[in-house]
Amino acid sequence: MLTAERLLAGERYVVFQGDGGEGKTTLAAELARWLVFTRRFRRGAFARLDQDGDARKVLYAIGEQLVPGYLSARAESGPCRQLVERALAEQATVIVLDNMESVLAPAPGSEAHLAFEPETLKGIMGLCQALAKHGETRLIFTSREPLPEPFSRNLVKVDRLDRPDAIRLVGRVLGEGKLMPDAADPGESEQEIEKLVDAVGCHAAAWSCWRVRWSLPACAAPRRSSRS
Ligand SMILES: Nc1ncnc2c1ncn2[C@@H]1O[C@H](COP(=O)(O)OP(=O)(O)O)[C@@H](O)[C@H]1O
Ligand SMILES: [Mg+2]
Repeated sequence: MLTAERLLAGERYVVFQGDGGEGKTTLAAELARWLVFTRRFRRGAFARLDQDGDARKVLYAIGEQLVPGYLSARAESGPCRQLVERALAEQATVIVLDNMESVLAPAPGSEAHLAFEPETLKGIMGLCQALAKHGETRLIFTSREPLPEPFSRNLVKVDRLDRPDAIRLVGRVLGEGKLMPDAADPGESEQEIEKLVDAVGCHAAAWSCWRVRWSLPACAAPRRSSRS
């Protein structure tokens, strides 16, 4: 987060790049919150390209968050790009554009992204470029793949947790949630925790998956059979 924060002091955008479930969206949202909390930016907005998958929808998503009455203004006169641009010029804003891989050209040999349209990507890139010019606007992209020009630089790789961090995190969560009562005591349960961490390769999403599979809230007692 610090690397990205420093980059944004001099650059208009940053790209969090990594595989699915590594923590890109979490980090991007956290960085935006932090920049607003520390008063370097007044506003934050968020658009996800897997849902808002063309320039118009991205503009709508951002407009709804930044411009009071945007919905009715939009109904009267179309996308109202000027309203969004004015809002950006008036108040320093950080915009998160999540899941950019949804609109990128497929990687060679990949069967994904079958719906890819070059014009769609061009429209989104053009919109991002235009929005980034207004006021103090900064863009935080997340993507599994690098972005094309003009956003091909400023990559910050998001990778798996390192093993000691993952062991500490899993131990703490299991201990706090009473899922493994001795987990807070590393001496008692170190091996069991290490086995869990290694089984999922330090993957940030893994803990959430276990929780969902067990239908457990973050800090609930486990069903006995789930322990193994
Ligand atoms: N640093 C972290 N520590 C613990 N859990 C994390 C961390 N970063 C992300 N997570 C969790 O991992 C899951 C996947 O994160 P997400 O940001 O959605 O990944 P991505 O956007 O790369 O697919 C989420 O449930 C999130 O809460
Ligand atoms: Mg994500």
